[in-house]
Amino acid sequence: MGRLVVVSNRVPPPADKGASAGGLAVALRAALKETGGLWLGWSGETAADDAGPPKVRTRLEDNITFAVLDLCKQDQEEYYQGFANRALWPLLHYRLDLVDFERRDTSGFFRVNAMFAEELARRLKPDDVVWVHDYHLIPLGAELRARGVRNPIGFFLHIPWPPPDVFFASPWHRRLLETFTAYDLVGFQIDHDVDNFISCLRRDGLGEQTGPTTFFAGGRTIRMGAFPIGIDVAAFAETARGAVDSPLVRRMVDSLRGRALVVGVDRLDYSKGIDQRMLAYERFLKAHPGRRGHVVYLQVTPKSRSEVPEYAAMQREIAETAGRINGSYSDIDWVPIRYLNRTIKHATLAGLYRMARVGLVTPLRDGMNLVAKEYVAAQDPEDPGVLVLSRFAGAARELDSALLVNPYDLDATAAAIEEGVAMPREERIARWRTMYDRIGRNNVHEWCRSFLRALDAGPAAGVSDLTILKKAS
Ligand code: UDP
Ligand code: G6P
Repeated sequence: MGRLVVVSNRVPPPADKGASAGGLAVALRAALKETGGLWLGWSGETAADDAGPPKVRTRLEDNITFAVLDLCKQDQEEYYQGFANRALWPLLHYRLDLVDFERRDTSGFFRVNAMFAEELARRLKPDDVVWVHDYHLIPLGAELRARGVRNPIGFFLHIPWPPPDVFFASPWHRRLLETFTAYDLVGFQIDHDVDNFISCLRRDGLGEQTGPTTFFAGGRTIRMGAFPIGIDVAAFAETARGAVDSPLVRRMVDSLRGRALVVGVDRLDYSKGIDQRMLAYERFLKAHPGRRGHVVYLQVTPKSRSEVPEYAAMQREIAETAGRINGSYSDIDWVPIRYLNRTIKHATLAGLYRMARVGLVTPLRDGMNLVAKEYVAAQDPEDPGVLVLSRFAGAARELDSALLVNPYDLDATAAAIEEGVAMPREERIARWRTMYDRIGRNNVHEWCRSFLRALDAGPAAGVSDLTILKKAS
């Protein structure tokens, strides 16, 4: 395989900045280092509106060139806050009630993608393999093709893909779907996303289906597949073992005074179901008075995308819910919910997960949810905690030994919390072992390798099952 080129909206900060890199960054760095690579994306900084054409800044680290560019305020508003996070994010998370389809944002979105393509195209070498990440950059492949790029290009979507009846509510459904035909390989988190995506292609009459997961469109064979992302399980387990001695984790344990810890860790995002989770916890307290004073629920929730109005509204709602529950149930020496709006370092989180009897991961919809896998990886094999996991997280496809819940069903989630708190050790070990083995096999390095292998393999040879799809009327 030639040089690997990764493009994503966010680019990891320099390794020496002391920031704890997530598994994705670690895995991609390893892959990039092997071939010598380029990683292009937004710097996260704002350029002056009159700054002229984007200036790309580069740094070289470990055989990898990181290239970042600033976006002016208008580009950020239209491309990132607008189209990506007020249209695509809610739409692909099945939240039609929250979408905002502004024409201005649509043109900004395509404009910024074209700008990224322009910057990338001039840096590409003939044998480079390009891997585009996530919803912000869906049209990037098409913009590269429009500039004559013939290299293999793969795309991986980190978030869910909804069924046609949801996706077709967008005014630009066909325009966006067409841009996928520029890719050689399109990866999703789970098989349900692949099925939904294929249904969308069929419904819009895009190309010819040449196999269960291949289409011929725009003169190219596009392959689709599920590549469930993982974490670096061994490294995270090791971190968790060490992290229990960190000052923050010790303070947490001391403050518990033997009470059982329930932990939730999520960006403050409506897809995470934090409000419903707190309400379910309230029902648990109501249904099990004997647990009051003996269980503490820690919800770690760094603020996210606060400039987007729907996020600001939700921040107020969740804070109110936490306050109301604490007001109703607190005692002189016990508060039922500890609600933190701050980021906790990845390594420290590992220690908190390990101390927690129950990991509460109940998104209303999530592409994968890495917290679920991290919680499992961090457990003590002799005395593991219990994962309560939403059926609507991609992680539930692999982690089916968790207590799976429907997060909209507050009573069922409350019952699962009780089951987790009360679960005997043998059952905890048996469930945990199955999950740990599973995520250990499908770790983030394996995810990266399998996607790149599939991209490198080229169009599937000898495709049978030719199904000509009629153009939708
Ligand atoms: N995370 C963190 N500190 C925090 C909260 C979250 O390091 O205070 C990390 C968490 O450990 C996980 C990631 O952020 O690695 C969140 O990934 P996930 O797939 O669960 O959700 P996303 O935020 O990508 O939707
Ligand atoms: C999800 C998305 C990522 C995104 C992250 C944080 O994981 O799939 O693409 O980077 O959320 O969101 P932010 O808007 O801060 O980049």
